[in-house]
Amino acid sequence: MKLTVVGGGSTYTPELIDGFARLRDTLPIGELVLADPAADRLELVGGLGRRIFARQGHDGRIVTTSDLDAAVDGADAVLLQLRVGGQAARQQDETWPLDCGCVGQETTGAGGLAKALRTVPVVLDIAERVRRANPDAWIIDFTNPVGIVTRALLQAGHRAVGLCNVAIGFQRKFAALLGVAPVDVHLDHVGLNHLTWETGVRLGGPEGDDVLPKLLAEHGDAIAGDLSLPRVLLDRLGVVPSYYLRYYYAHDEVVAEQRTKPSRAEEVAAMERELLTMYGDPALDEKPALLAKRGGAYYSEAAVDLAAALLGGGGSPYQVVNTYNRGTLPFLPDDAVIEVQAAVGPKGATPLPVAPVDPLHAGLTANVTAYEDLALKAAVRGGRDRVFRALLAHPLVGQYEYAETLTDQLIAHNREHLAWA
Ligand code: G6P
Ligand code: MN
Repeated sequence: MKLTVVGGGSTYTPELIDGFARLRDTLPIGELVLADPAADRLELVGGLGRRIFARQGHDGRIVTTSDLDAAVDGADAVLLQLRVGGQAARQQDETWPLDCGCVGQETTGAGGLAKALRTVPVVLDIAERVRRANPDAWIIDFTNPVGIVTRALLQAGHRAVGLCNVAIGFQRKFAALLGVAPVDVHLDHVGLNHLTWETGVRLGGPEGDDVLPKLLAEHGDAIAGDLSLPRVLLDRLGVVPSYYLRYYYAHDEVVAEQRTKPSRAEEVAAMERELLTMYGDPALDEKPALLAKRGGAYYSEAAVDLAAALLGGGGSPYQVVNTYNRGTLPFLPDDAVIEVQAAVGPKGATPLPVAPVDPLHAGLTANVTAYEDLALKAAVRGGRDRVFRALLAHPLVGQYEYAETLTDQLIAHNREHLAWA
């Protein structure tokens, strides 16, 4: 089996390679290709990757290349984990929205729109090359904003599934709190990428008993603490929101914090410098502990599980992924991309039925879906007016004066990445 990682020079890649090595029985990779325009990073990451494989007795071959067409040629699955403009562009996304009192975040709000506009055309171009090389290849998209990028891919007819690690993170966390194995925890997970709620926590599978009320009663403080949200809010909601909901439920509090702290991009850039130095050490043959400070915990396990299921080699039968709604959430269009539990196999992902959604969550979900639709139109077709409409539609912007200012800021800070600007 040949698997290609686009954005393979990412400092995240050793996390992925460690998972490929540990879980090789689930996903037997013969050739792993790391593709990235940054040759210097590829050398460091590829070197460590080979040492991780060797240490763990994985006999797969790791190839590094900056030639995308060669990288995807003959690949059974292609994992996208790229970041157009790198941490420098992310730093901008996290900064200029603050001028209007809006959250500065790489996937939520105005910063998330900027990232979508930079990213969608690049991903669509890569996907075309994948299709040309092998029309049967699966594309697994971890590139943010995953909801919008996956919708772009599906709309263009690609064999794509969107992936995020928020659900697997909750699954692992809840399993530890409950004292059970992660595979025995099935989440009722509903919403859009980075806008989700855990509305049930079932033991054993989709039909298992819901232990969420017990979990909240016994471990509510720990769960709320992880999310930096008050326990009383969780008790009142009766569900567990993802930490991205803090940007909505505690928006002004987050903005006040962001104004006094270094941005996440700055923190990550510093970590990346340290990580790359470590990766260059020929004695290092495992993923360093520092990598755990990045947000991608368990990403590798989710990716292995998904690739294995899509390629017909096993994997969990139900997985939380991003795919077309197709009536699952009746208050959204069929072609909206949602993030829910789905049956996953060689034919792709089919959402499991979802219980009626509380209007409290359905309303916000519908609003953000409309924003994502407008964001995708802006990303594909360009134009100042389309950017303005997406921003005006976003619940965290919503006022015309802010939308005007943020439109100008977005374009000014991203001109080199926007073909139409
Ligand atoms: C989580 C999200 C990812 C996001 C990452 C950011 O893993 O699910 O979509 O890319 O956090 O982590 P970072 O360490 O870059 O802040
Ligand atoms: Mn994510």
